[in-house]
Amino acid sequence: GDIDTGGYPHFMLKEIFEQPDSLRNTMRGRLDLDVASAKFGGLNLSPQQLRQVERIILTGCGTSWHAGLVGEYQIEALARIPVEVEYASELRYRNPPLSNNTLLFAITQSGETADTLAALREMKRKGHPTLAICNVVGSTIAQEADGGIYLHAGPEIGVASTKAFTSQCLVLALLALYFGRLRDLSFEAGIRIIEKIRQLPDKVAQALECDARVRRVADRFYQCRNFLYLGRQFNFPTALEGALKLKEISYIHAEGYPAAEMKHGPIALVDEHTPSVFLLPRGPVYEKVLANMQEIKARGGPIIAVVEEGDREASSLADEIIEVPAVDDFLQPIVFIVPLQLLAYHIAVARGCDVDKPRNLAKSVTVE
Ligand code: G6P
Repeated sequence: GDIDTGGYPHFMLKEIFEQPDSLRNTMRGRLDLDVASAKFGGLNLSPQQLRQVERIILTGCGTSWHAGLVGEYQIEALARIPVEVEYASELRYRNPPLSNNTLLFAITQSGETADTLAALREMKRKGHPTLAICNVVGSTIAQEADGGIYLHAGPEIGVASTKAFTSQCLVLALLALYFGRLRDLSFEAGIRIIEKIRQLPDKVAQALECDARVRRVADRFYQCRNFLYLGRQFNFPTALEGALKLKEISYIHAEGYPAAEMKHGPIALVDEHTPSVFLLPRGPVYEKVLANMQEIKARGGPIIAVVEEGDREASSLADEIIEVPAVDDFLQPIVFIVPLQLLAYHIAVARGCDVDKPRNLAKSVTVE
């Protein structure tokens, strides 16, 4: 039937809440317990080609480019293949020196973005295998690529991309598993990763329970004119994507930064009217991010911390704590982005903005 908001006030909110289902649809039929790997129907690459891959280029625009950054961490961690992430608009004119065994993935929700299409054509012309990670079936990029992987996330109507982003990150995790299993990753490690991936939709459903809490945070800060988003490692791209969501739909200036890099510039922006949103999962850099929080607090900046369930350590530093379930690092962006999507949404609503059709933006940009 017709696509409607299904009882939600906006498509964006509906699409945020659809994520447990869209993620299930993205992974359906793609987990292969027999060989402890992922499987894809349409890569169209020979086993020989697949094993010879020396380098992977991920390209895209906007949110899809952020998913590419997540993919870089995932593929390098699980498959140990060097990855470059390029803005499609830059890749096209950069003419980077590339060996023959370089594989290109164009990441695009719509499959119609002009910059991404142009980059794909240029790489194809140079003889590289080109693949699409795409949501819209039969779109131009899906057709022109040599092969690809569909997200199966369902139609995304809100201009600010939400469920497509989490499905892109999931496809890239599956690819990381796949390439890992063609190389160094053991059968046992593959099985363990599959188990983690299977639990992901339920974890995202749990993360969505923070909605009421995020709404109160939005009510407290919606009049601020600047925000910082800070995270490290797998959650550096999450910080960039969180900042982009806020910019796109609430027209508030926001910057995403690697948390430790903030002291080299952006900390100059901090005052009592500039909140910092920290992504703070447990892990090797936890204490360092806490120290970064301390630096912000010492300068009077309000702190909103997204932490893992049961983590009380940040509560003495943070003004607001939002809890999400703990997951393995390579899946964290998919869980940690949820409160940031909701924060952007509730702030935009509080400011009276047109959430689904923000000014100056289009769902897909078909000019270069
Ligand atoms: C536009 C949209 C963004 C999107 C970007 C790339 O700028 O407003 O939300 O991330 O294009 O779109 P694509 O369809 O290629 O993922």
